[in-house]
Amino acid sequence: MSAVRRLARLLPEPVRKLAVLNVGRVNRNLPGLRVDWGDIARRAPFSQVYGWDRGLPVDRHYIEQFMKANERLIAGDVLEVRSALYSQKYGSAATRTIVDVDEGNKAADLHADLNVAGSIGENRFDCVVLTQVLQYTDPQAALRTVKLALRPGGTALITVPCVGRTDPEAPDMDQWRWTPRGFAVTLERAGLTGEVQGFGNSLAAAALLLGLAAEEVPEPRLTEQDVSFPVVACVVAR
Ligand SMILES: C[S@@+](CC[C@H](N)C(=O)[O-])C[C@H]1O[C@@H](n2cnc3c(N)ncnc32)[C@H](O)[C@@H]1O
Repeated sequence: MSAVRRLARLLPEPVRKLAVLNVGRVNRNLPGLRVDWGDIARRAPFSQVYGWDRGLPVDRHYIEQFMKANERLIAGDVLEVRSALYSQKYGSAATRTIVDVDEGNKAADLHADLNVAGSIGENRFDCVVLTQVLQYTDPQAALRTVKLALRPGGTALITVPCVGRTDPEAPDMDQWRWTPRGFAVTLERAGLTGEVQGFGNSLAAAALLLGLAAEEVPEPRLTEQDVSFPVVACVVAR
């Protein structure tokens, strides 16, 4: 306990409360600590579509970086959910299979529910690209399904949100957010291994929630990593 706190404990309660109030008032007005709400004191975010209408959403910036860094693993028979967003842009997939539980997704080669064991086959893929999907599933069940579908030596490139608005189009399905540590535990319980990395910082997290795009976050703040404020958690799982 700091000396100031020890001293504060000796003060009578009313005096202590007054002191705490005044410390707050002083801190709120110190140069560099005074907040200027400027453009961000608004009711609605700048974008209702995560920032896609302004540029690249902030979480997608980190996901792109992660895919780029691991693109050598996107090879052979590759499975991706909803579209070939990353397996087309990165790596050298020999075949791409698109899966979705949504029967309305005409781009899907396979309509299957990841929550159901064996629904995407066994020993079938060299790589599974699973970005921003697990929050809609029973995560351990879905991860076990992915594990079963991987060939020996295969990898899954997985990303999950640490922060982010709820999905306005699927509010009843969008269920989870993770800390990197929590995601490591989820993986472990599903029998997968891999080093989970968190990406982001407080400004990037705020920008994401406000619906701003990565292009609007001044460099080098976008690339600075602060382990206390992850935006996404990413893993190469085996
Ligand atoms: C937010 S989108 C992300 C898609 C894409 N991977 C990306 O990064 O943009 C989530 C997708 O997961 C699908 N999905 C949700 N739950 C699922 C499940 N249990 N099995 C298969 N797909 C599921 C949804 O239908 C939707 O297409």
